[in-house]
Amino acid sequence: MKIRPGQPAPEAKKTPVKIRINGQWHEFEPGRDIEPAMTLSYLLRERLGYTGLKVACDEGACGACTVIMDGKAVLSCMKLAVEAHGHEILTIEGLSADDPLIRAFAGQCEPGYGTAMQCGFCTPGFVMAAKALLSETPEPTLGEIKEGLSGNICRCGCYAGIARAVQRASREPEPEGGKP
Ligand code: FES
Ligand code: FES
Repeated sequence: MKIRPGQPAPEAKKTPVKIRINGQWHEFEPGRDIEPAMTLSYLLRERLGYTGLKVACDEGACGACTVIMDGKAVLSCMKLAVEAHGHEILTIEGLSADDPLIRAFAGQCEPGYGTAMQCGFCTPGFVMAAKALLSETPEPTLGEIKEGLSGNICRCGCYAGIARAVQRASREPEPEGGKP
């Protein structure tokens, strides 16, 4: 089609961005729902209301925004939303209340280890990082747990309780359909 001088160019056809989140496909129209520079954490929290993940440092240094993408833990503040096109994202809202990790974090409080959460701000990030760890290494050693969660920071200092909760969860069976 010829464009005459002064005539606005026709809009390029916009291919929707499709992301599967917690088992459901979502479609986003570029320019309307999603911008090229939008982070995955922004899309999930601010546009879709998955507020379990937290944005603390917003520069890949704390792990609070961890979600699972195609089975691997990723920092959602360091991913562009468009990079998730065609991929599967699991947020903490997608875990069953029965998930061994959820129960282990909620139940962990033991002399010598302490609680797995105080303020709870870091907890969703730790749970999702631990979920990815356990799906790759179902019975990790303490060293593997420390290594696997080394990208996550807990400012309340609950590290011993968190490691204990992950160890405990690793010994429990997954609920039906609970794997990402
Ligand atoms: S908010 Fe993403 S790593 Fe800190
Ligand atoms: S429980 Fe408060 S930051 Fe981890």
